[in-house]
Amino acid sequence: MKWIKTTLVTVIFIKVFCLSAKADDGHQLWLKKQNPFPVNIICAKKSPVLDIAIKELKDGWNGTPDATVTLQLKPVKSIKDDGFLLENSRVSANSELGILYGVYELLRRQATGQTVNHILSNPSYRQRILNHWDNLNGTVERGYAGHSIFWRNEKDSLTITPGDKTLWNEYARANASIGINGTVLNNVNASPLILTAGYLKKVKIIADVLRPYGVKTYLSVNFSSPVKIGGLKTADPLDPDVKRWWKEKIQEIYKLIPDFGGFLVKANSEGQPGPQDFGRTHVDGANMMADALKPYHGIVMWRAFVYSPSDQDRVMQAYSEFLPFDGQFRENVIIQVKNGPLDFQPREPFSPLFGGMKKTAVMPELQITQEYLGRSIHLVYLSPMWEECLKSDTYQKGPGSTVAKYTDGSMQYQKYTAIAGVANIGLDTNWCGHHFAQSNWYAFGRLAWNNNRSSADIAEEWLKLTFHESKSEFINPVKSMMMNSREAAVNYMMPLGLHHIFAEGHHYGPSPWFSDQKLRADWTSVYYHKADAKGIGFNRSATGSNAVSQYHEPFSTQLNNIETCPEIYLLWFHHLPWDYKMKSGRILWDELCYHYNQGLNQVREFQKTWDLVQPYVDPQRFSEVQSKLRRQCRDAQLWKDACLLYFQQFSQRPIPFEIERPVHDLKYLINTPAADIRH
Ligand code: GCU
Repeated sequence: MKWIKTTLVTVIFIKVFCLSAKADDGHQLWLKKQNPFPVNIICAKKSPVLDIAIKELKDGWNGTPDATVTLQLKPVKSIKDDGFLLENSRVSANSELGILYGVYELLRRQATGQTVNHILSNPSYRQRILNHWDNLNGTVERGYAGHSIFWRNEKDSLTITPGDKTLWNEYARANASIGINGTVLNNVNASPLILTAGYLKKVKIIADVLRPYGVKTYLSVNFSSPVKIGGLKTADPLDPDVKRWWKEKIQEIYKLIPDFGGFLVKANSEGQPGPQDFGRTHVDGANMMADALKPYHGIVMWRAFVYSPSDQDRVMQAYSEFLPFDGQFRENVIIQVKNGPLDFQPREPFSPLFGGMKKTAVMPELQITQEYLGRSIHLVYLSPMWEECLKSDTYQKGPGSTVAKYTDGSMQYQKYTAIAGVANIGLDTNWCGHHFAQSNWYAFGRLAWNNNRSSADIAEEWLKLTFHESKSEFINPVKSMMMNSREAAVNYMMPLGLHHIFAEGHHYGPSPWFSDQKLRADWTSVYYHKADAKGIGFNRSATGSNAVSQYHEPFSTQLNNIETCPEIYLLWFHHLPWDYKMKSGRILWDELCYHYNQGLNQVREFQKTWDLVQPYVDPQRFSEVQSKLRRQCRDAQLWKDACLLYFQQFSQRPIPFEIERPVHDLKYLINTPAADIRH
């Protein structure tokens, strides 16, 4: 009886508490409005950037009431680029943007209860850039948070409303608050129209809104623009008319946008035009654009995401194609390389181009939008995945040659250093579709600023700022849920090095059975898992495609040897018998079953964790996340059942009896239209 009474009181208390807590739609991101204390600010200079810094301080001051803060703009040796130094009541920087970033850090530290005493902070990369895969018709390629914030449907794509400008302003502020200083406004599969006068006018207006926050504007360009919109007969990069066309176009852009950042180019990749169409090379194409951009200090981010329907293992192709050009690119060309050699899978080893190129500037491209990680439906905190890549050792100059050091200029000189993240932003009120997907935008900015930070610290900071709650009863369980979420996704989607067994096209649900004679092999699942009666996995060792040879020693040998290959990459590099003995003592088939089962159970735990912290979360965000977790759990079950039942046809072994049985039939999973259950 007593028990029932206590429970009732608790339930009523929680209900009343929740109803009284204000609904929060998530639009304010990690920048919740404060009830600030008064503060006095000394700043010798006036400018749009400094005005913002002063306003932010006044609107967000949480320190000693009536304190005096000095914003000091003068050269300090230890400060680099737009870095800053924080001392109790002083923010020093070499640039106005440095002051702004310092102010954001100061306020963040106040809001999260951290001390502010002699904090020197310099950015790891000079350019920290979002890539929007936004089409000019307003759709977003691999976007799961509504339409583009920049472009509408084609008819009124050029219209600009006051509402648009407000949104862009909020967007710029959010980016500046986490150190992002550049944005590419359109899809890498670029429409040539972006370079026509009407669109450039709109780009100028967007750039004007973003500028005071230090966010530079860049564009993706279509290599055949001189033909498509310039009326030329060719886009051959060595043709004098083509060179002139790009020179004049670039001149036109800089007249409108004097601080324009440069171009992002996807060339000769997945059907996009490029220099190879004219018998030229990536070097010819990239350098031609780089020469035209150089007088304005613009850069070319030339993507290495290339593969063709050849017989060579797809994951080896970018390296094979680019390495021969090492040292031939201009100084203002940066080769933009996806974190892994395939395509943003839940887990990949790092791309061997990191560490491979020795005399070429290279930048990492990360995917913030969850194309292969459950869209904006699954709660997956991506920072641990990026951290794993950045901290991977390329061994280029011996142990400790991490991807982070290789790309940030600390290992070898690069005039321009940069990092890109494919944005997960759209018109949804909460910007990212899932409240927790905001943490990935946030974490990208924080890692781009400091590529050595721990994902756990970033998660804690984000939680405190976003949910305005610092109690350990809330922070600890939710942080741990975030930190486990990526591994959970790997477990229920493709553990032990499995990859690309997604449903074709939309990349959301499982389809390990997918194969189609009419399609190129490397667009099918069976190409990647190679399951047969003998075993499973892609042999990329020296007896197979030899992709291991693209890595430096001793990593190459470590990967090549089944005994030393990390188990997280095992089936990426080896085809192994079903009864292969794993480190756990289980056979491979059983181990696979355990991983899928564990992934599903982890999501069930996330559901419990979230319900447990209900008293600390406003009702709107609570119920929206709760409902997404339900869907995630249902879909994790689909993943587990689909993969185990399908692979079991080859392994011919029972699912270990202590593991929960599948609840779907394989036939149902294969035959139910993807739109019903997996889309
Ligand atoms: C993936 C993605 C495409 C995208 C491509 C790219 O293949 O599915 O939508 O265009 O990557 O990065 O260029």
